[in-house]
Amino acid sequence: MIVRTRANAIRERKGRPFATITAYDAAFGRAAENAGIDVILVGDSLGNVVLGYASTVSVTLEDMERHGAAVARGTRRAHVAVDLPFMSYEPSNEEAIRSAGRLVRAGASSVKLEGGIERAERIAAIVGANVPVMAHIGVVPQTASLGEGFRRRTDRERLLADADAVTAAGAFAVVLEMVDADIAREITARIAIPTIGIGSGPHCDAQILVLYDLLGLTADPPPFAKPYATLGAAATEAMRRYAADVVAGRDPADGPSLEPTAV
Ligand code: KIV
Repeated sequence: MIVRTRANAIRERKGRPFATITAYDAAFGRAAENAGIDVILVGDSLGNVVLGYASTVSVTLEDMERHGAAVARGTRRAHVAVDLPFMSYEPSNEEAIRSAGRLVRAGASSVKLEGGIERAERIAAIVGANVPVMAHIGVVPQTASLGEGFRRRTDRERLLADADAVTAAGAFAVVLEMVDADIAREITARIAIPTIGIGSGPHCDAQILVLYDLLGLTADPPPFAKPYATLGAAATEAMRRYAADVVAGRDPADGPSLEPTAV
């Protein structure tokens, strides 16, 4: 029997670098697993990169259930963490537990929520209901556009306090988003759970990137997300050649013509 990577096993990777990535569907979940990445986040960045929203506040629990389930179906061994979307956990501990339960029922191995000290009670409540929680501090995109914006975080005392609070509340790992690299290093040395950096320098225990940024599928990726492929350009070129073949009267069943033809 194949067992998925568990939250406890991820916690024990503290101090040993590992890669994590976002995915939103079965095909890319499988590709991540085939690449040897066994911690996958179904992030609510789904709203930006797949659903075309301007921010993640429009993402619903139903969206996360659907895409979390798809990634779970496409994978066998990977730990599939799924984001609790905006306002699915803030109102009360009960609502947070109910929302986490829905994601687990859909296939999530754990849930992630945004916030530090102010969300420690919610983290403890969900962990108390036996659902592992990945925390997320630093820039928190769900509310960044409503308040502090997407500026790199340098407020050391507050960030250390947030890291301590989510660790004490029982999170098994914590995402540090756009945290000053020296502070990220200090947090990583200070807390007992793995830090997963995004735009927070090289000293975190793990790193995460938004898959579509890594693959070159987003038009304006953040400066810290350097593409490892140019799939956006490759997809456009493939469709351009297909359209050219059809316009030229060639049967696409014969496969692509060797020479690209201008449409
Ligand atoms: O939603 C997301 O993809 C995330 C990552 C950027 C960590 O939260």
